[in-house]
Amino acid sequence: MHALSSLFLLGTCAVQAALGHPGTARDKRDTAICKRSVDSFIEQETPIAWARLLCNIGPSGCAASGAASGVVVASPSKANPDYWYTWTRDASLVLTGIADVFAHNYSSSLQGTIHNFAVSQAQLQGVSNPSGSFSNGAGLAEPKFMVDLTQFTGEWGRPQRDGPPLRAIALMQYAKWLVDNGYKDTAKDVVWPVIKNDLAYTAQYWNETGFDLWEEVPGSSFFTIASSHRALVEGAALAAQLDTECRACVTVAPHVLCFQQSFWKASGGHVVSNINGGEYRSGKDANSILASIHTFDPAVGCDAVTFQPCSDKGLSNHKAYVDSFRSIYTINSGIPPGKAVAVGRYSEDVYYGGHPWYLANFAAAEQLYDAIYVWKKENSITITQLSLPFFKDLLPTITTGTYPSSSPTFQAILDAVLAYADGFIDVAAQYTPQDGSLAEQFDRNTGAPVSATHLTWSYSAFLTAAERRAGVVPPGWSAAHGKTVPATCSRVQVAGTYALASTSTTSFPANLTPDPGAGGAPAPFPSAGACADAGEVYVTFNARVATQWGQTVKVVGSSAEVGAWDVGRAVGLSASGYAAGDPLWSITVPMRAGTVQYKYVRVNADGSVQWESDPNRSLSLSAAGAPGACAAKTVNDTWR
Ligand code: NOJ
Ligand code: NOJ
Repeated sequence: MHALSSLFLLGTCAVQAALGHPGTARDKRDTAICKRSVDSFIEQETPIAWARLLCNIGPSGCAASGAASGVVVASPSKANPDYWYTWTRDASLVLTGIADVFAHNYSSSLQGTIHNFAVSQAQLQGVSNPSGSFSNGAGLAEPKFMVDLTQFTGEWGRPQRDGPPLRAIALMQYAKWLVDNGYKDTAKDVVWPVIKNDLAYTAQYWNETGFDLWEEVPGSSFFTIASSHRALVEGAALAAQLDTECRACVTVAPHVLCFQQSFWKASGGHVVSNINGGEYRSGKDANSILASIHTFDPAVGCDAVTFQPCSDKGLSNHKAYVDSFRSIYTINSGIPPGKAVAVGRYSEDVYYGGHPWYLANFAAAEQLYDAIYVWKKENSITITQLSLPFFKDLLPTITTGTYPSSSPTFQAILDAVLAYADGFIDVAAQYTPQDGSLAEQFDRNTGAPVSATHLTWSYSAFLTAAERRAGVVPPGWSAAHGKTVPATCSRVQVAGTYALASTSTTSFPANLTPDPGAGGAPAPFPSAGACADAGEVYVTFNARVATQWGQTVKVVGSSAEVGAWDVGRAVGLSASGYAAGDPLWSITVPMRAGTVQYKYVRVNADGSVQWESDPNRSLSLSAAGAPGACAAKTVNDTWR
């Protein structure tokens, strides 16, 4: 009964906040009441969320019977909507949250869940599917699979390119724990082979369009690009830690970051979440809020280039996003600016009625908890012209400037932002049924749960927000080494090699118990100009080939890296730079120094192949002049 009455009290808090007129005394009272209520909601919801989240994971989760070991089911709902599948995005975000909690607080049972997940994904990488096969990596971006790890063959918005980077990030969190606790060999032999495929995918396909995280818009998606950047930077750092390297990560990451900057709309002070295809929407989308919290690095301060939660861009975007929901949901009516409201995916949403989403509310809170953590750590808050409107909603007389922790304003800002953040939890709490279950959405008019029940991602989003509110943050991803935007953006895409982690190597030794500190010193972050493999040359093939829709271009030649004249193993070029007046196809292929003969082929939609005319092209590749330097060469060819 205690649980029920406390949950009820939460509702009271939200109603008071909604009806209260913004005046200092009243605001203070609301804040105090809400804070206590948010505390008790979190206390009651936390065990429920953990239990329900684990219920959705096979083989033994209470709501996952029939799911294979390690499979995270999106929701037990089998109809209206049917979510009885495993999505790589949902599963990876959930596992990142689990690995994070595990790293702070060892649990052999969570470790078992993480191991099962890693093993399941090693297998899943090799399951051929409608997005493509494993041999050129294309199949890694298939968005969802059946819960028994077989392919889903129905029509879907595919590929979705956030899956591979998000899965790499999830597995890297555990690999880092292994390294830190003295199990580097296990990290390298068991987990890295799986991570490596996803990083190779990301470095090869990041610049191709695909479907966004909501599976609706084909184009370029901010969340996907931000996740890709993080994975590549973190991958470069982890590779060094494991005494290996990811040259493709180091080469490509700065250019992903460069592209990431282009989603910013200065005139509106917000991210446009979908470009190159999604321009019919405002672009104000939970996509960007999720990008901010899932690329949070507590060590990089309020960096705007990597879109940190406390950056001026991040906060301006938060306001634009939240404000876009103020007038569209009935349950938000009468709530003034500066008070939290129910938020959803994006204002134009119609999916299942286009209601507010629980996970969006938790994410809106989480971004602000992240910000508070960093401000406290840095003992200062800076308000710029860009972030001023965000702060003015909370503190109408505030001005731009830097407020050190010694100033009274610093504390006033922290209090106001915390109360505002708590408000988003409070809204979700108000519309959470008394049994604590979290569906996907809640009705914009009545607040009643809508769409998939027990959405795994909703529980995970609640849990990570609660962690951040308590000041528990993830270790970061070396963002400080990945925040420099190159002077000119390049679309460099590096062809990967893909090797399935065999089921025999993907098994974890027993007794991987904590031994913090056993990992030794961190490895220095790899510099862009240093390469371990002196005989490797990065060859960029730029080929001008006019093509028709459905046709692709490949390069094939005498050496193994370009298929050894076997057109079945030729390397595909990317059309991401193709324009009507300039039919450019490109790919960067890691090759061995020496002489190589090659030709381009045009592949028709039906698989038939058209070769270039004779003679073969020839290329002589020399190793880097200096020891440790990275050799590279670019060729510019025109179809003949
Ligand atoms: C299913 C997807 O999961 C959802 O995000 C989308 O809105 C609908 N398909 C409609 O395209
Ligand atoms: C629909 C959401 O739009 C998508 O992001 C998610 O992956 C699926 N539902 C499964 O939860």
